Amino acid sequence: MLVNDKSYQTVWMEGNSVMMINQNLLPFDFVIHECKTHWDTCMAITDMTVRGAGAIGAAAGFAMAQVYLEAQEAENPSLILEGRHDIEATRPTARNLFYAVEKVYEAGKLSAVNARTEAQRLALRDTEDTRNIGQFGNSLIKKGANILTHCNAGWLAFVDYGTALSPVYTAHHAGKQVFVYVGETRPRGQGARLTAWELHNEGVPHLIVPDNAVASLMAQKKIDLVIVGADRIAANGDTANKIGTLDRAILANHFGLPFYVAAPLSTFDAACTSGKQIPIEERSKDEVFFQNGIDSNGNQIKVRVSSPGSDAINPAFDITPAGLITGIITEKGIIGADKKSIAAVLKQN
Ligand code: MRU
Repeated sequence: MLVNDKSYQTVWMEGNSVMMINQNLLPFDFVIHECKTHWDTCMAITDMTVRGAGAIGAAAGFAMAQVYLEAQEAENPSLILEGRHDIEATRPTARNLFYAVEKVYEAGKLSAVNARTEAQRLALRDTEDTRNIGQFGNSLIKKGANILTHCNAGWLAFVDYGTALSPVYTAHHAGKQVFVYVGETRPRGQGARLTAWELHNEGVPHLIVPDNAVASLMAQKKIDLVIVGADRIAANGDTANKIGTLDRAILANHFGLPFYVAAPLSTFDAACTSGKQIPIEERSKDEVFFQNGIDSNGNQIKVRVSSPGSDAINPAFDITPAGLITGIITEKGIIGADKKSIAAVLKQN
């Protein structure tokens, strides 16, 4: 996608370094972050310099290639399994991370160069898949539709295009005059910070809405359709996505609105029979206690926004039961959120 008239992807490899847009500094500063070693890349995934299921999948694939290159350089094959472990310990929920590590690990058994080629192939595949998700998802969007999304499942969350926002971009470019309500997505504010920044850059009309305004908007019939992303989809269609997604699904069901999940097949996990098996990441309480922003001079600052005497919890994801999902928009088409449809589409992968 274009940033200041220049085409960017979220994450890529240059030589032995993994390069990424620093998402912790957005929307206030646009900075490219370089990870020279697999450990640097692991740190960037953990602290969410790179974030979003597809983007951390691509970064993890590149990190696995870095592991092979480092092991080759050190002439120490024992670094390979240690490195794989480092990557898999960064963030537990997004399936894409484990999918990419597995694929690149297998490819690297041939050579380090083969590992890098596979990581690059996976990143390219992510781009193609999300572009196709845009085409299929566009068929659900009527002219003048008002769409609610949550978190950031736009191009920043993948290598390019995104999942929930890819249909929005396709519809917008087709002249459908869509409007997007962007849930701010506390505590880290991926909606208010990242989705809003993406939509603004692309010229898509939108409003940032407080997370707790959604029921009221739906009651006023201001929303026609909900599209969200996914971090892991179980074999029965239960879906892990950013905390607060479940609230929106319940509300959509209550108000009779279509609720779609958009995700590539690399997000599906046939080994999880239901959402109960999906690991949910618990992040630092500091993300609840403090917010990052800019002061009146444009300097990035961190401020406490909660009472110092109180404790907090910070689960990063929730599980939306399959029964609340109208359909899943994949790169192969729109499918039902059920065991049979999922098994059939995964056979095509
Ligand atoms: O914690 P994050 O920002 O990495 O969250 C992952 C997500 O981007 C969202 O849950 C998103 O809706 C899933 S699609 C990338």
